[in-house]
Amino acid sequence: MKELKKIREFNPQAILGKYTKVLVCRACNSKTLHHFLSFGLMPKPNGFLDKKHLHEPEQYYPLNVAYCSTCGMVQLEEIISPNELFDYYVYASSASFPMVEHLKFFASETTKRFSLTKKDLILDVGSNDGTLLSFFQQLGVSILGIDPAKNIAKVANARDIPTINDFFSQKTAKKIMQTYGTCKMMTIVNVVAQIPDWNSLFTGVKLLLRNDGVCIIEFPYLVDTLKTLEFDTMYHEHLSFVSVHSLSAVLQRHNMEVFDVEHDPIHGGSLRVYVSHTGVYTKNKKVQQYLKEEDVIGISKPQIYTLFAKKVYLIRDKMRQVILSLARGKKKIIGYGATAKGNVLLNFCRINSTQIGAIVDSTSYKQGLYTPGSHIPVVPESSLDELKADYAVLTAWNFTDAILEKNKERRKKGLKFIRPYPTPTIL
Ligand code: TYD
Repeated sequence: MKELKKIREFNPQAILGKYTKVLVCRACNSKTLHHFLSFGLMPKPNGFLDKKHLHEPEQYYPLNVAYCSTCGMVQLEEIISPNELFDYYVYASSASFPMVEHLKFFASETTKRFSLTKKDLILDVGSNDGTLLSFFQQLGVSILGIDPAKNIAKVANARDIPTINDFFSQKTAKKIMQTYGTCKMMTIVNVVAQIPDWNSLFTGVKLLLRNDGVCIIEFPYLVDTLKTLEFDTMYHEHLSFVSVHSLSAVLQRHNMEVFDVEHDPIHGGSLRVYVSHTGVYTKNKKVQQYLKEEDVIGISKPQIYTLFAKKVYLIRDKMRQVILSLARGKKKIIGYGATAKGNVLLNFCRINSTQIGAIVDSTSYKQGLYTPGSHIPVVPESSLDELKADYAVLTAWNFTDAILEKNKERRKKGLKFIRPYPTPTIL
């Protein structure tokens, strides 16, 4: 394969991993998928390596993106087995303090709005280390989590957040129903894009949701991604780039609907969508407004995607140019945040440990490991000063404000930051 030969110039250990092709739209079941963007071959976005495995074959997978001309859903064209990606996981919600604050606010607002009490069961799908549920627990609501990562579910259970270690599906929903009954509330926060089988997912939601139950789904909003050009959120864990249109398409088939929508700046712009059985809650006018705006933008038409892809390739070239020129000038460059998205960006730009000496990160599970493909060591954030960096690439650009704020003093002393989007800029 030509692509593999090309990638081996960057990483000689690259081999082709197993994947399946997507042929039908996940949201509306149509066969109207159109390719518009190609990242080439990519390693697993969270496939951090320990020293022992650093010189062993590393699996790469094609990363291509398509849109559906029927419902406007944007989706990856190749899928890696969820077990490969999620059985052992290094991402922890509790590691990013702005995320923790966000989830705390989410829990208090939701509890207030829907008057949740101890009698109400809330199920968090993809509950990770239990950060969101811990806030609901503090507010006196009955909680249950489900998460496929063995290591993370163990951490959650150890902190008294009851967590089932499994994937959420129609099958597990049935089991939950038999043991716990129906749920007043379900939350799916930054997880819906990770689930390949939406029919199984929403059959499970339909089954578990009480008659007056509410399922809150939060996800990075396709329209924001298209506007901000933050393309590195497109990776093998994020299979879907969701809009109100595409979500409505799948919900309609399951006799459910969106009755309210809120926008939040988290993760470069996210939507929080409120879902119920059809006809239970009065629909907020905003739902129709979002649908209309998506039509105006043309999310089911080719133009917006052709333009997006063109801009993505320009950002990649500029980013590479900025980093290579700084490295040639003997500037010391590090990364800030060992993120999955950062791994996409660095691999796509063909930047590795030759240019970037280290990436700082607050997550204990990531420290001591090496980034997939680019093989950059991940070190604790606390070792930032020892690194004596001139530049830090904001590989966690979604937390730019928080990171700049906590590095105020270092910036005064000369540390500069590079934000990749909407165009690589030195701050
Ligand atoms: P996130 O953007 O959620 O990552 P992903 O692209 O993998 O979904 O994670 C942010 C990462 O950045 C996480 O590993 C923690 C790290 N981080 C820091 O090291 N310091 C910080 O101040 C913040 C906000 C995050």
